Amino acid sequence: MAVEEKDRDPHTGYLTTGHEWNGIKELNTPVPRVIYFFLSLAVLFGIGYWILMPAWPTGRSYTKGLLGFDQRLFVTEDVKQAALDRATWTDRIEKESFADIQKDPQLMHDVRETGKALFGDNCAACHGRHATGGKGFPNLTTNSWLWGGSPEQIAETIKVGINSAHPESHTSQMPAFGHDGILQRNDIEKVVAYVRSLSGAGDASADDVKAGQKIFADNCSSCHGDDAKGNSETGAPNLTDRFWIYGGDPQTVYTTVWGGRQGHMPTWEARLSSVQRKILALYVADLRIPDHE
Ligand code: HEC
Ligand code: HEC
Repeated sequence: MAVEEKDRDPHTGYLTTGHEWNGIKELNTPVPRVIYFFLSLAVLFGIGYWILMPAWPTGRSYTKGLLGFDQRLFVTEDVKQAALDRATWTDRIEKESFADIQKDPQLMHDVRETGKALFGDNCAACHGRHATGGKGFPNLTTNSWLWGGSPEQIAETIKVGINSAHPESHTSQMPAFGHDGILQRNDIEKVVAYVRSLSGAGDASADDVKAGQKIFADNCSSCHGDDAKGNSETGAPNLTDRFWIYGGDPQTVYTTVWGGRQGHMPTWEARLSSVQRKILALYVADLRIPDHE
């Protein structure tokens, strides 16, 4: 007892451990009660959690816990809700008019997301990932349309195709003026000069352009229109803008007029559902790049 008394620290009243380094003694401070309190609380919580919640693996299964809590139930619920959300938005696409859908930002958001994927899977191979087309495949981001650019008209084109196997297919037929002997070589050259002048190409003589204008009025305006701005009844393109399906250089335009053109666009009636086609029509109509007027 005398030893203990001697090793009690006079300032704190705690015992020392008896270790001493250069006159510094180590106190034997007890663990504070609050630590024991929280430790016990954690142990109790742990035991409670094992009993109530799924906890221990038991070979093939696991202890389910008294609460019957199962993360999988939440996932199933979420999946059901997502399917329900999807059903309601595609239902609305099916029932509502093009104009109403276009006015609804949330629906158009869904159209853009789903349309992008549908376009990538079905259309990008020909029209390009960004729908800007390529030689022989029209650019779908412009205001220059063969068969009309309203969503209704685009939906119809997607449904029946162009020169396709569909019974109501659009029929596109640019005659072969040279090959079929309708026009002579030098007349074709003149009409080509005129057509190119319409979109600003100034590399032909004024006389050729003038002569070409007459040939155009006699042979071409019935389909392309008196002003050459195209006609969505015949699928004849606007020849006055800067967008070309086949190309606007003299050689390509000559080849077009000499040999004719019949573009082929498949019918999608059997391959895509009516909702998918409607989404695509809205998607394509929405692609208009402002600069591409
Ligand atoms: C096999 C190639 C091919 C595929 C695939 C294809 N298209 Fe086309 N599409 C064409 C061609 C070629 C034309 C132009 C036909 C012509 O010159 O008369 C065209 C024309 C169009 C037009 C008419 C443009 C206008 O100016 O009126 C629309 C709209 C269109 N395609 C949308 C689509 C959509 C949407 C898809 C996907 C579902 C698609 N296309 C898939 C080849 C294709
Ligand atoms: C019977 C209607 C018809 C007549 C007549 C006609 N075209 Fe066309 N033309 C079309 C159609 C349809 C196309 C689109 C062909 C396709 O891509 O399927 C076209 C395409 C063209 C193109 C291609 C444009 C591009 O973007 O590459 C040129 C150029 C053209 N026509 C010039 C003429 C000229 C010049 C004449 C008169 C000598 C003429 N066409 C007469 C229907 C006609």
